[in-house]
Amino acid sequence: MTSSPPQHSSSSSNTNSPSSILIIGSGLFGLTTAYSLSRRHEFANTSITVIDRSDPSSTSTFPSPDAASVDTSRIVRADYADHAYAALCDEAQLQWRQQEKPTDLGAQGRYYETGLVVVGDATTPAPVAAPPVEGDVSESPHKKLTGMDYARKSWENVLSLASHNPVLAERIRELPNVDAIREVLGTGGSSGAWGYINKNSGWTDAGASMAWLVEQVRQTGRVNFVAGTVVSLEHNETTVTGARLSDGRVLTADLVMVAAGAWTGSLVDLEGQAVATGQVLGYLDITEEEQEILGTMPVILNLSSGLFIIPPTNRILKVARHAYGYSNPQSLPIPPLPASPGSTSNPVVSIPRTSLHDPALCIPAEGEADLRAALREMAPLPGLVDRPFTKTRLCWYSDTRTADFLIDYHPYWKNLFVATGDSGHAFKFLPVIGDKITNCILRDCPPEFKEKWAWKEWEGSKVLFTEDGSRGGKPGLILDEELDKAAQILPAV
Ligand SMILES: Cc1cc2nc3c(=O)[nH]c(=O)nc-3n(C[C@H](O)[C@H](O)[C@H](O)COP(=O)(O)OP(=O)(O)OC[C@H]3O[C@@H](n4cnc5c(N)ncnc54)[C@H](O)[C@@H]3O)c2cc1C
Ligand SMILES: *[C@@H]1O[C@H](CO)[C@@H](O)[C@H](O)[C@H]1NC(C)=O
Ligand SMILES: *[C@@H]1O[C@H](CO)[C@@H](O)[C@H](O)[C@H]1NC(C)=O
Ligand SMILES: *[C@@H]1O[C@H](CO)[C@@H](O)[C@H](O)[C@H]1NC(C)=O
Repeated sequence: MTSSPPQHSSSSSNTNSPSSILIIGSGLFGLTTAYSLSRRHEFANTSITVIDRSDPSSTSTFPSPDAASVDTSRIVRADYADHAYAALCDEAQLQWRQQEKPTDLGAQGRYYETGLVVVGDATTPAPVAAPPVEGDVSESPHKKLTGMDYARKSWENVLSLASHNPVLAERIRELPNVDAIREVLGTGGSSGAWGYINKNSGWTDAGASMAWLVEQVRQTGRVNFVAGTVVSLEHNETTVTGARLSDGRVLTADLVMVAAGAWTGSLVDLEGQAVATGQVLGYLDITEEEQEILGTMPVILNLSSGLFIIPPTNRILKVARHAYGYSNPQSLPIPPLPASPGSTSNPVVSIPRTSLHDPALCIPAEGEADLRAALREMAPLPGLVDRPFTKTRLCWYSDTRTADFLIDYHPYWKNLFVATGDSGHAFKFLPVIGDKITNCILRDCPPEFKEKWAWKEWEGSKVLFTEDGSRGGKPGLILDEELDKAAQILPAV
């Protein structure tokens, strides 16, 4: 069967705007872009379709439950070593803070400004990359930051952003030693040697915020949602023309945007620019008393280990690790779209493995041990540190070397645009990123991000590690190898 979204036979009257856009992926990047396009006059006559691979019979098809964008919580912080991302979050927070009307983004428990404690460990050097697999790992062109370097730069950035507003500035305070860190945590625990607390940062209920966003998009009445799995991109000799689905359907469009998160590399050869990495999460049921104590703690993020804890709500505590993660190289039955017309692509690509298709999936013992260490240090309540996780999860980043996103037209294939490379930190930008992506589609990318988000030259490396100074864990771990080592852990859900 062949069907296509409703569309005009040729381009709309404004020749710069495509008559139809197909967005693959209804995660944060895909949905925010659909929302922005639907409200921009340049796309008033453009038909907009969003496709996601989730089960059509499920009521929670958009977004998919195993998307990176769906979880109990995501940190919202302007605390970046990089000034451009710090400023972008500052802009986003104007909307996160809107809570008056129930329909405001930050209302109904979608946003909490609990404060964030950022700490680093003075004695920890930047982790050394594991030996390259085939001897061809290229030198990172960027100076590696340590967790402490990152924390200090981040501190300078948030102070500078708050400098125009004494109320905001007053809410940021240096924590010069372990005792000062312990005192603001209020859990009896501590972590790191130096840090600061920024009470202008907090966290969002990511699942609830995505549900809010889907509702906003539906209300525009402009977006067609299609449930289905894209298996390959349709193209002729020069141009991408649509997408083929696993059930044989073909969707055609004037512009195809791939925003498939960590799955993007299975559809498009990303030329080594972005790699799917699995990250570990653990969730614990806690008692009413524990909720009382931990419910008022700030978010704590140790930039030397990547470990973080978000304050619990509804008696569920989450511990996670922002790390180099695990790659999951697999040979794909259909190789991704090659780097350029006429070339071939490598069918071996790191792709996500989640409990949606593998209900028995566990997290590796190495990761579980690290999550335990975080509990022991950061929230050492009696009885809590040894309690089994109620559930664990592998959540997938699309990681780039510098942790910059990859938001650009493809350099060789016409009518193909990608928005991926989230590098584990895009969620906080929910209120603003869609408009920035739309500007990039209009070839008017924000100047401060034009280089950062651009499609980069072939880097000639098969092994990529994110070296922005924020990552913990060991570089170069392979999921299957780590799972083979593992003893028992509860199934991930
Ligand atoms: C453990 C973890 C912790 C994080 N913590 C934070 C944080 O504290 N703060 C923060 O700002 N950010 C955080 N992030 C990052 C943030 O969640 C991501 O940057 C963001 O959600 C990425 O959105 P995305 O749209 O790129 O990907 P996704 O949300 O994964 O969306 C991709 C979508 O594409 C669909 N898809 C894939 N392949 C196909 C196909 N072939 N056909 C059809 N559909 C397809 C998928 O089903 C999915 O819905 C965290 C991420 C993780 C995993
Ligand atoms: C959309 O179509 C209307 C009616 O044909 C036209 O007046 C308008 O200029 C079009 N807008 C764009 C952005 O193409
Ligand atoms: C490829 O498809 C595009 C878009 O439909 C079309 O404009 C172009 O002429 C086609 N090129 C070839 C070589 O068929
Ligand atoms: C913070 O990271 C450093 C370096 O790994 C470590 O020494 C310290 O114990 C960490 N604390 C936690 C809870 O991760």
